[in-house]
Amino acid sequence: MIIERQEQVTDAVLAAMSDTGNPRLAVIMNSLVRHLHDFVREVQLTEPEFEQAIGAVVALGQLTTATHNEVVLAADVIGLSTLVCLMNNGPAGNTETAAALLGPFWRMNSPVTRNGDSIVRSPTPGENLAVRCAVRDVNGAPVAGAVVDVWQASPVGMYENQDPDQADMNLRGQFTTDAEGRFWFSSVKPAGYPVPTHGIVGTLLAAQKRAPLRPAHIHFLIYKPGFKTLVSQIFVDDEQQLQSDVVFGVTRSLVGKLDRGADGLSLAHDFVLAPGEAILPTPPIS
Ligand SMILES: [Fe+2]
Repeated sequence: MIIERQEQVTDAVLAAMSDTGNPRLAVIMNSLVRHLHDFVREVQLTEPEFEQAIGAVVALGQLTTATHNEVVLAADVIGLSTLVCLMNNGPAGNTETAAALLGPFWRMNSPVTRNGDSIVRSPTPGENLAVRCAVRDVNGAPVAGAVVDVWQASPVGMYENQDPDQADMNLRGQFTTDAEGRFWFSSVKPAGYPVPTHGIVGTLLAAQKRAPLRPAHIHFLIYKPGFKTLVSQIFVDDEQQLQSDVVFGVTRSLVGKLDRGADGLSLAHDFVLAPGEAILPTPPIS
């Protein structure tokens, strides 16, 4: 159509897309265009601002490498990743799901480790942490033989592949649940850490006066055929840190219950696996 007023642009685009063969693509693009056009009208976007926005999208791509994904980070810090996660997991997509973001640091082929063993593989000063977990199905029955990947940052807030002082695969392990659905191991209490701020996301966070910090957590990935693969994080930090996770990953059900005893800290947590397809995600790094 020949456009006579700016109000007609949206309809022109929607009409141009109306023969889209894939119905889901049609729904998504139709809504995206309407919302983007409405957004531009609402904020009365100027031409310099539009140029800046294009530059930002270009920078997100250019900053993304084999070991760093600036696009995912951008989605994380505006809450988009967590919103999609919560909408697609758990009953009615509420915060009672045990699912959480995979994050950028999962590696395949973590060392197979026996229950009760430690995932500390090189000297790692810190507070001892005993972790005891159980995996159940939605009816409360134990899930035996589930494979559980565990990975965490060190007490100085670094994953092993970021830190030359740690052995390869330090603070990572792969466990198998026993007949009662349990797995357990010893470790050290992780620390929180900043997300990368060298790029455009860092610039944005600084402009918004936001700390780029994630509270301390342990990652879990639980896999067994017949169940939807559960990607989760359990937080082991104090309440104050939990209030300001820069990627909005802290939900009530992921706050770990820590006990401080004579031998150090202990963490107990039960995971529930929903029925579904067991698919492993693509590792963000090698
Ligand atoms: Fe993490």
